[in-house]
Amino acid sequence: MEGLSLIDLAENSTIREQQKRGKQVKNPFESGEFRAANRISMDVTNMFGAPGPGSVSLEDVESLIPEVIKAHQMLKSGEGDIYDHGIAMTGWQDLPVEISEEHLTGIRSITSELSGEVDAFVSLGIGGSYLGIEATFRALTHKYFNQLTRDERGGAPEIYFLGQNMDPDFFRDTLDMLKGKRIAINVISKSGTTTETAIAFRIIRKLMEENWGNDADRMILVTTDAVRGALKEMAGKRGYRTFVIPDDIGGRFSVLTDVGLVGLSVANIDIEEFVAGFKVMRDITSGDDFWHNPALVHAALRHTAWCAEKKIEVVATNSASLYAVARWMEQLFPESEGHDGHGLWVSPSLYSEKLHANGQMVQEGQRNIVETFLLLKEHDNQVRIPRTDNNLDGLDFLVDKGLDMNFINRMVIEGPAYAHYKGGVPNMTIEIPRRNAFNLGQLYYMMEKSVAISGYLLAHNPFVQPGVEAYKRAMFALIGKPGFEEETRNIKNDLAKMKRIRI
Ligand code: PA5
Repeated sequence: MEGLSLIDLAENSTIREQQKRGKQVKNPFESGEFRAANRISMDVTNMFGAPGPGSVSLEDVESLIPEVIKAHQMLKSGEGDIYDHGIAMTGWQDLPVEISEEHLTGIRSITSELSGEVDAFVSLGIGGSYLGIEATFRALTHKYFNQLTRDERGGAPEIYFLGQNMDPDFFRDTLDMLKGKRIAINVISKSGTTTETAIAFRIIRKLMEENWGNDADRMILVTTDAVRGALKEMAGKRGYRTFVIPDDIGGRFSVLTDVGLVGLSVANIDIEEFVAGFKVMRDITSGDDFWHNPALVHAALRHTAWCAEKKIEVVATNSASLYAVARWMEQLFPESEGHDGHGLWVSPSLYSEKLHANGQMVQEGQRNIVETFLLLKEHDNQVRIPRTDNNLDGLDFLVDKGLDMNFINRMVIEGPAYAHYKGGVPNMTIEIPRRNAFNLGQLYYMMEKSVAISGYLLAHNPFVQPGVEAYKRAMFALIGKPGFEEETRNIKNDLAKMKRIRI
């Protein structure tokens, strides 16, 4: 039997886009026409008046407007609980207009030189030093990117992520994928002390040095604090090329810093277009006219839902490529809002898949859910549905009506939006016109501003994460890190006092 041939199927547009980007063919993101066609929008109709307990009304939201506007003004003028170690963590606000063309050119020139020399690029990091890069990469590239030919990838190397977990099997499996390949890495850590990233870096660095001696140093990029930290010190000693995470931008707000830009540039994603998307949303969300500012509306709706006892936000998308963006939101919001017993738990979901899993609970379970849809309007590809001889599955009517998989996939959002609303789940739909860096930039900026406003509404600092520090300290203590002896003793005493129940 011969291998499968994709008879009558057009070429894959995602691959074509990758190839265009590899040849530096740009989207016309400065043109009015492109901007009009690529403007993310929000439909909030279904947020109001869902039946059952915890309903949200338009009046509830309108009564919150003065507080939201005040929060916005404080954010813009740098007032309130926004400091971390004495620094106002709001550098992300003006970053889109502060990034210079020279800076982007510098990144592009380093990454294009490096890309040409390697077969694979590994991004090492966790949390804010990982999720935004992976989200953007997955949103804009082929699902099986690393299995494509180099030409199909637009000349980019294979791209891998490590350091985001400590699973030895995952780590080892990834190393197997790197075996025999020339590699470069970008190790990303603002603090420079995060255990998972540091361990991953140790292992990879050792392998690289054993293979290539001092030549390995040229293939190691470091993205960290400008002056402090172990990574910065090591980079100085070894002469690694370094990129900077600004002091006033926290991890989960850092996708537009070098944290994101370097890796995205390696993948040939147009970082200028990405910046342009951020800039546009910065403009759109700069004013205090509530109903014309999507970040303010988004923040107010989520806050009102939370006040109405909604505790879970399902962030559902009909796009496998945007699922990683929902995962980015899973970090941005809970890591910022989860203080003092507050905050919505974000549950990223890919529909239809999850509709056949926890969809039952969304429809009929405890009415503590609010839902946000990330609807991808236009997919890269169109998949037609063929006619069959006998119509046993009864689906020929789709063919008769000229309906394709793309149409059905839109209904995968519109159907649940209606049914879940009727079942008592208020929901809103954020419509993303198509998969490009411009749209992602807009979405990210809007979400960053929304969560910042949410911090004011919840009356705590959204830019710190003492809870994450708590786990880090407990882990340091349990692994016996020098300097944590007292914590080790305390934890061991606590554990010894607990009666273990094992079945
Ligand atoms: O948003 C954050 O600040 C965190 O998620 C950090 O990005 C994460 O803990 C990784 O920290 P670091 O970059 O210091 O290694």
